[in-house]
Amino acid sequence: MRIASCPKEIWDAKAFQCGFCLAGTVLCTVASSNMDDADLATAQAGNLCRCTGYQNIVAAGTALRNADRDDDS
Ligand code: FES
Repeated sequence: MRIASCPKEIWDAKAFQCGFCLAGTVLCTVASSNMDDADLATAQAGNLCRCTGYQNIVAAGTALRNADRDDDS
């Protein structure tokens, strides 16, 4: 788990706009980054994001999961 680099994946995926939800989004993304995309979306259920529609947040989680796999190999 790479919490220090998570904001890069969130930034690269354009997973936030106003930043209101960012703290919860980052924590949930890191905590659920070993999950598949459906479970990543479910894991964000407690975060209210009024800007993004969540697709880019899930994309950031996918990017983080893939980055973690690259680090493991
Ligand atoms: S980026 Fe604005 S509420 Fe999530």
